[in-house]
Amino acid sequence: MGKKILLEHIDVPGINTLEVYRQKGGYESVRKALKEMTPDAIVEEVKKSGLRGRGGAGFPTGMKWSFLDKKSDKPRYLVCNADESEPGTFKDRYLMQHIPHSLIEGMITSSYALGAKTSYIYVRGEMMEVIRILEKAISEAYSAGFLGKNILGSDYSLDLYVHPGGGAYICGEETALLESLEGERGNPRNKPPFPAVWGLYGCPTVVNNVETIANIPWIVNHGGDAYAAIGIGKSTGTKLISACGNINKPGVYELELGIPVEEFIYSDQYCGGIANGKKLKAVVAGGSSVPILPAALILKTAQGEPRLMTYESLSEGGFITGTMLGSGGFIVYDEDQCIVRNTWNFSRFYHHESCGQCSPCREGTGWLEKVLHKVEYGHGKLTDMDLLVDIAGKIEGKTICPLGEAAAWPVASAIRHFRAEFEEHVKHPESCCKMHLHYEMIGNH
Ligand SMILES: Cc1cc2nc3c(=O)[nH]c(=O)nc-3n(C[C@H](O)[C@H](O)[C@H](O)COP(=O)(O)O)c2cc1C
Ligand code: SF4
Repeated sequence: MGKKILLEHIDVPGINTLEVYRQKGGYESVRKALKEMTPDAIVEEVKKSGLRGRGGAGFPTGMKWSFLDKKSDKPRYLVCNADESEPGTFKDRYLMQHIPHSLIEGMITSSYALGAKTSYIYVRGEMMEVIRILEKAISEAYSAGFLGKNILGSDYSLDLYVHPGGGAYICGEETALLESLEGERGNPRNKPPFPAVWGLYGCPTVVNNVETIANIPWIVNHGGDAYAAIGIGKSTGTKLISACGNINKPGVYELELGIPVEEFIYSDQYCGGIANGKKLKAVVAGGSSVPILPAALILKTAQGEPRLMTYESLSEGGFITGTMLGSGGFIVYDEDQCIVRNTWNFSRFYHHESCGQCSPCREGTGWLEKVLHKVEYGHGKLTDMDLLVDIAGKIEGKTICPLGEAAAWPVASAIRHFRAEFEEHVKHPESCCKMHLHYEMIGNH
């Protein structure tokens, strides 16, 4: 059994209540932080821990915190990104539903470290159950003196609010999230300036993912070095992975970074192998926006080394032979799954979710979707594959926010690794995806 930090007490009855959470050592980090540590000392521990942001990009959290503009006399804010809209990713929701106090404890300790007196948890609007759970837990924390004025008799005060989001994928992008929190349409901002200098209401702001913040209490309690001792190399600590697709045991798993991908897919402790005795065909390892890898490359790197569940190992070889850990949404496909249909499906999503500010993304995502639809429904041409790669290349790196890349990578990687399957759809449409071919073309599809 690997080390558990976030889900250690997940099976304890009543762990969602303040009482049981405290019996298991909950809120100790708030006491320790306020009574024994300066804010800067906490930032140092987080730096030492090597914790990397769990929202997708994997940027070192301590470094991000140290960029916060301390010279500014404006208020500072901590905003928790609980939007979680990446297809295949459902780990933050799981954590908030089952152990809401771990996020609230993390928000208090982190807000103290950053000097924030008001903090927000921005939750995707559709997750009403999560919003109610968090609001109940926040009110329990106020009643127990962990939130509000002069927390635990100290001179530190904090107000924490849950803000229901607009229910759009783009509102998970940190600057779009801040716009939405300010009551505007959730359009990403041009960067720089980064939120550390110009964030919420133009004030210095840190935006962190739910899982990132939920790790902070353990780091404060046990020290950054103890956290860094878990995992491998620059992939320290544990990671929540939401696993789905054609596996025997879909669910949310906490694993110590560094276990082999093969163990994660096949061992009973995690995914339990491919469902119905089928063969593994491909994996999208870090949420729908990361490149897809065929079975051979997800289990082993191009050098023939076992591929590990770490930031470095998953990305080994760049995008030619690697992918990304991303948000930890692990989608498994068996031998019967159609990569063309899946790629088209992702493209529909990104086209639908583009905010429309930049033309490469607004027009390009629509174009990708249209061409992929043609190929999937047996009306494609062999030249369409090069066209798709060309369109993807013209979106990537040419947009205000990374949704452009998120739309381009799944298409470019699917064609890189599964071109023959795309060509088969063009040459022999009658033998591919038979069940879809009789559908009539609707509208511009
Ligand atoms: C289109 C898009 C959607 C995103 N959605 C989320 C999300 O739902 N949750 C999240 O934490 N980060 C999301 N991100 C990443 C955030 O912009 C940001 O990097 C992250 O919240 C930073 O937190 P971290 O440093 O703790 O990882 C998204 C990024 C993009 C481009
Ligand atoms: S890349 Fe797409 S989603 Fe991002 S700002 Fe441009 S149009 Fe909007």
